[in-house]
Amino acid sequence: MRIIEDPSELSRPEFQGCAFVPTMGALHAGHGSLVTRAREAGKPIVVSIFVNPTQFGPKEDYVRYPRTLDSDCALLEPLGASAVFVPSVEAIYPRGLEAARTEAAAFPLPDVATKPGLEDACRPTHFGGVALVVGRLFDLVRPSAAYFGEKDYQQLRLVQDMVDADRARFGDLRIVPCATVREGDGLAMSSRNRYLSSDERTAAIALSRALQIAHSAQKVSTAERLMVDTLGSFGLEVEYSVVRDARTLMPVTGFERPTRALIAARLGSTRLIDNAAMTVWR
Ligand code: PAJ
Repeated sequence: MRIIEDPSELSRPEFQGCAFVPTMGALHAGHGSLVTRAREAGKPIVVSIFVNPTQFGPKEDYVRYPRTLDSDCALLEPLGASAVFVPSVEAIYPRGLEAARTEAAAFPLPDVATKPGLEDACRPTHFGGVALVVGRLFDLVRPSAAYFGEKDYQQLRLVQDMVDADRARFGDLRIVPCATVREGDGLAMSSRNRYLSSDERTAAIALSRALQIAHSAQKVSTAERLMVDTLGSFGLEVEYSVVRDARTLMPVTGFERPTRALIAARLGSTRLIDNAAMTVWR
């Protein structure tokens, strides 16, 4: 497994049309599942590790975000990754961070990343930074397929729509969604789970529990009430807890279309998100 810092190394013929897994490191089995899935492409697998400053808000955890390159590489090697791309901030944003933040703020985002009033409302600068860095990584890596977790469902939908809206730039790049990997008790794996105290870790099962309980509901309003009640009973501070159209992420208006329950909640200073497919009706 090669460790690549210089983006020009990615233009070697051996990486052409690779399978690509973008990450911010602090890797766990959820990231690992993306790499395992990427083997299906039968191409070399490139994993990027870049803690992207433009997707963190001013009061968010950019500085304390865990950086664990050695253990990340130890996880990736046996899974069959061919290369780990670890660019510097300068390599990704050659015109400087200030210019990059301006560019991120002006990024022409698809509706799915500006209209729903979910992550877009809670983290107003986040998706601009995600779109900017993901586009930049795609330009540098030029993959034939890229693997994204449903754990970050709104991000996944953003990337799908961004790529579909600009085929001139992204060619026939395939975005492959991958199921959320969970701990034994249901908590979705996340690099941020390591911030939780042991009491918070116990309460964190509220998110997956709320999604499970809501799954049996037949109406959106019932599902939403069950979710809020469950989160509240574990003492979580809810940012949103909704059932939406799975494609547009807008409120459900028709019957029987695919829907998705989406939750963001705080436990102390840690913000957790989770989501699941639902079968509810209007
Ligand atoms: P990061 O949070 O490191 O996640 C990298 C990828 O792993 C994302 O596609 C995410 O959805 C997926 N992932 C995380 N936890 C998962 C889990 N429990 N099960 C399955 N997949 C999981 O998402 C980002 O980084 C960044 O925003 C990035 C796309 C790299 C742009 O900076």
